[in-house]
Amino acid sequence: MPFETYAEVNLDNLVENVDRIRRKVAPARVIAVIKADAYGHGAVPVARRLVREGQELFAVAQFGEAMELRESGITQPILVLGRLFPHQIPEAVKASLRLTLFGEEDLRWVEKCVADTPAKVHVKLETGMGRKGVLASDAPALFDKIGRSRSCDWEGLFTHFSTADETDKTFARRQLSRFREILSILSGFEKKPRMIHMASSGAILDLPESYFDAVRPGILMYGHYPSRDTSQSIEPRQVMSLKTFVAHVREMPEAHPISYGRRWSTPGPTRIAVLPIGYADGMSRRFTNNGEVLIRGKRYPMVGTVTMDYIMVNIGDARVAVGDEVLVWGESSEGSIRTLDVAQRLGTIPYELTCAVSKRVKRVYIGAA
Ligand SMILES: Cc1ncc(COP(=O)(O)O)c(C=O)c1O
Repeated sequence: MPFETYAEVNLDNLVENVDRIRRKVAPARVIAVIKADAYGHGAVPVARRLVREGQELFAVAQFGEAMELRESGITQPILVLGRLFPHQIPEAVKASLRLTLFGEEDLRWVEKCVADTPAKVHVKLETGMGRKGVLASDAPALFDKIGRSRSCDWEGLFTHFSTADETDKTFARRQLSRFREILSILSGFEKKPRMIHMASSGAILDLPESYFDAVRPGILMYGHYPSRDTSQSIEPRQVMSLKTFVAHVREMPEAHPISYGRRWSTPGPTRIAVLPIGYADGMSRRFTNNGEVLIRGKRYPMVGTVTMDYIMVNIGDARVAVGDEVLVWGESSEGSIRTLDVAQRLGTIPYELTCAVSKRVKRVYIGAA
């Protein structure tokens, strides 16, 4: 698709990645994490395609994300990982969203807001992530209250790793044993959750002992390892490819500054390609003098400061023409640029790169349902 900056989203690759995860974790089930607009890939097209392939469980971060899926016809269970407030709870229950409880306050809200149908709830436990979740010391009292509540159908219990993508798994294992300790007190309760889940991508790759009844992959479904430090026990295919085109080819004289702040100057007479993609599209300013693109199968360096709408690349004396397709990261018929490598170069993670691709960038789907 020439003369457009776009993100190609290959849903066939996504399905392949989910299949590979399913095979690895079976009999545990897969809760597909499609928060943040499916990490920038488009939650509705991603969910629709996965539903066509038999996917049954989804998770998002926020109420609005879940309702968007419901409004687009996704009827499968959706777990909202973030907190739901009293003004959202009645609608959430009506839409059969799965609510996460973080403590007794959440339970009180549910009891106040729920009329006839009990809310399907999951309890989030704090085991070392240090963000939200019930502390071990508060868990027994909460379990007891949920057990006695007629407003709750206790569907799940979960926790979240903070270091499962690191080489040293000592702390991850400590979290796992804390989680098991809390699970062990469940035997004293009559009412128990039906589904226990913990593992996200790092643990899916490296900690099979954390699979329980279900796993919650995000980044691995989208084709990337969460970091360079995990094993590669599943080989995922990149789902999103960020592409643009050559808008101008300029012959610049020697010692000519390029872009804001004059952070790069031509070392001699230099050919520069101007590409219509900038930070408004999600190209971090950390790419300034620090990135490469692929044109006609060859890599060229980005030069000068990333601007809102453009970046510049030094094309030397290569045969590059206006209208040529440019791969920024991902896959093309002429080669690939691994998003994980780009992320490392920028000192970030692949999650940030795909989530940052902005609304202005059209998503072009391969294999849409
Ligand atoms: C609670 C929870 N579960 C699962 C995931 C998916 O994580 P990953 O993308 O590393 O697989 C996330 C993402 O941040 C999360 O917050």
